[in-house]
Amino acid sequence: METIDWKNLPFGYLKTDYNVRCYYRNQQWGELEVSDSEYMNIHIAATCLHYGQEAFEGLKVFMGVDGKIRVFRIEENARRMRSSAYGVMMQEVPEEIFTAACIRAVQLNKRFIPPYGTGASLYIRPLLIGTGAQVGVKPAKEYCLLVFTTPVGPYFKEGFKPVAVQIARDYDRAAPLGTGQYKVGGNYAASLRAGERAHCEGFSTVLFLDAKEKKFIDEAGPANFFGIKGDTYVTPLSASILPSITNKSLMTLAEEMGMKVERRHVYIEELGEFEEVGACGTAAVISPIGKIVDRDSGQTFEYCREGKAGPKSTMLYNRIRAIQYGEEADKYGWTTIID
Ligand SMILES: Cc1ncc(COP(=O)(O)O)c(C=O)c1O
Repeated sequence: METIDWKNLPFGYLKTDYNVRCYYRNQQWGELEVSDSEYMNIHIAATCLHYGQEAFEGLKVFMGVDGKIRVFRIEENARRMRSSAYGVMMQEVPEEIFTAACIRAVQLNKRFIPPYGTGASLYIRPLLIGTGAQVGVKPAKEYCLLVFTTPVGPYFKEGFKPVAVQIARDYDRAAPLGTGQYKVGGNYAASLRAGERAHCEGFSTVLFLDAKEKKFIDEAGPANFFGIKGDTYVTPLSASILPSITNKSLMTLAEEMGMKVERRHVYIEELGEFEEVGACGTAAVISPIGKIVDRDSGQTFEYCREGKAGPKSTMLYNRIRAIQYGEEADKYGWTTIID
């Protein structure tokens, strides 16, 4: 067996042993199938190739301090995948099939779960695609759920260190009444140009504004945005952002820590009033934001002046990590133990 440098894993693809597939044909879901191939045969007129009938999820599995394997909030991902399927008219995957496929994929690739203490985890990537052929713009009649896993290090290579992000007005990730609330490939395709340009200009990601008015913060590339003002955790309320499971968890923990939680429009001008700001998502949990630069006006907002994350972001980050690694009691029942 190849040796894996667990401590220096990128957030990238590494081949594991097996993936799990489940097909919807003749109006019913079949049995789970296990494959050791990284490829799939697909009809040349499949709707996922032509009309974007595609949705995916991302969740993580952790090796706990007690040697137990935990997956974080899997039922939330199952629910969100159903919502995404609804959003682009795909067959919804029953939550028990989604969960069983993910768990089976983890069990078959146990040897790729990074050891406790490395900061790495096993990422699960469920994918739902329209496989049935259509030439007219219509939903497919056949679908495939595929689940693969890959061990990953932290998403932002800086780790839990402040990153710089860029506000860009010349690109939108999602339209106000479009598909921004669903985890569908088209949203990511729409964000690639702005994201790559931000990287080239020295930023880790783009802070997208609401597409209609360009007045409010929407989200930070593949992560939700939050700001902390005194004892208040503020996060954008918008129909065009992905409902982040990490953000939902942070809101619960913030309230538990005695903070007030506000989900509402966050005006650009308000950026100057926050003491801490961050991007949150499965990949990084929290990426503290040290600097926000408005690409058009050059206006700059700075945080984390000592070069490290603020105290409240740090506390929230530590709490969620402790639950994921089984270091702290899981009083909300967020984790599922996999045998
Ligand atoms: C666009 C977008 N926003 C937010 C998030 C964060 O969501 P979650 O916390 O469920 O990973 C993600 C994915 O991770 C994303 O792709």
